[in-house]
Amino acid sequence: MEREKFGSRLGFILISAGCAIGLGNVWRFPYITGKYGGAAFVLIYLVFLLILGLPIMVAEFAVGRASQKSAALSFDVLEPKGTKWHLYKYGAIAGNYLLMMFYTTIAGWMILYFVKMAGGRFTGLNSEQVSGVFQDMLGEPLLMTAFMVLVVLLCFAVCSKGLQKGVEKITKGMMVCLLVLMIVLAVRSVLLPGGKEGLRFYLYPDFSKVAEAGIGEVVYAAMGQAFFTLSIGIGALAIFGSYIGPERALTGEAINICVLDTSVALMAGLIIFPACFAYQVQPDSGPSLIFITLPNVFNAMAGGRLWGTLFFLFMTFAALSTVIAVFENIISFTMDLKGCSRKKAVLTNLFGVLLLSMPCVLGYNILSFVTPLGEGSTILDLEDFIVSNNLLPLGSLVYLLFCTSKLGWGYDHFLKEANTGEGVRFPKGVAVYVKYILPLIILFIFVMGYYTKFFAA
Ligand code: TRP
Repeated sequence: MEREKFGSRLGFILISAGCAIGLGNVWRFPYITGKYGGAAFVLIYLVFLLILGLPIMVAEFAVGRASQKSAALSFDVLEPKGTKWHLYKYGAIAGNYLLMMFYTTIAGWMILYFVKMAGGRFTGLNSEQVSGVFQDMLGEPLLMTAFMVLVVLLCFAVCSKGLQKGVEKITKGMMVCLLVLMIVLAVRSVLLPGGKEGLRFYLYPDFSKVAEAGIGEVVYAAMGQAFFTLSIGIGALAIFGSYIGPERALTGEAINICVLDTSVALMAGLIIFPACFAYQVQPDSGPSLIFITLPNVFNAMAGGRLWGTLFFLFMTFAALSTVIAVFENIISFTMDLKGCSRKKAVLTNLFGVLLLSMPCVLGYNILSFVTPLGEGSTILDLEDFIVSNNLLPLGSLVYLLFCTSKLGWGYDHFLKEANTGEGVRFPKGVAVYVKYILPLIILFIFVMGYYTKFFAA
């Protein structure tokens, strides 16, 4: 059977961007930027996006397009006979499921907060009560399960309609809404009286903060963010390469996606920080930035209920577009491996993902005694650690080596695929860099991840 393709180039770009644009952009990026010195951090981050994220994204797209398969079979199709690259399918498959095991829960929080904001549940609460709302939610397994189930049902329903009629159509609409909402919210925030201080906090290149944290830590944080935000390493983007034809060269497409992803990340900060400073709310880092600090800010703002509702709608779109993209990948794994229909793949995965998402939900209440990474840590932290600190860097290394090594698919095949079509070509003269230096950088990130997690004070 002919493989279904995207209906348009814009569809491909927006869906890949939708996969990349997620909680990493709208939540993680703003607070680590605030923490590590604003524009100074952003500069370092942009360099890594270019030298680290971009080439690997091109590698994933190339493997996807050349094989016309998901990561469950792409290595089997392209690898030289007798080699074992195909074993990484298990890493890629595990990575996508593991990511969903916690992402569905957080996406559920976003929808729940959207509903609460719209219903005026925060109006008139003081800051302790706002923080109480978050704690109460974590203590209610049924409520959290209900919203997680809603996310899973909604997103599988979209995927069950097919690639063009479901995933492409809905995600395209959501991404356009997301971009419009983002601009409206950012303009409003930047124009708030007193918002300028927030811009300064966010964007002023403060090298003393870099020095304080230590340049090593800042560089490591920038690398990790570049990785996470682009969704590389577990074939999540490769799948979309398998849905396009030979019309456009892949480097140019990857640049478009990186630019979209970065714009959303930067704009999220423009929304959050001016508002915090305008109302003298100290921006926190971590989960509380979104779920505790911001409801306080909206409480203080004229029309805050409306702005808060729009803000959580924006967050919900970012999260759901990622979930839909990963579900599409998971469904495609199942279809590739079992040769079954889309319907059947949706059904099996629906139950599978619901079940797999439960530990994360229960980790905040019934299972809160499980602290796998030390005191105070949760099941979510463990799942996040396995994906972000292990599968993403190691998987990126696999894609990179596969595309550059003679023992894999090989650099010539990779270049030919990447440069098929019109548009920006993969630069000549970077062969030595991508073959030898980049793998070392990735290994370094991987090792540092363990070091900072377990040994640094
Ligand atoms: N990029 C996503 C975000 O910013 C998260 C993510 C990381 C991801 N790795 C992924 C999404 C792999 C899909 C596949 O939230």
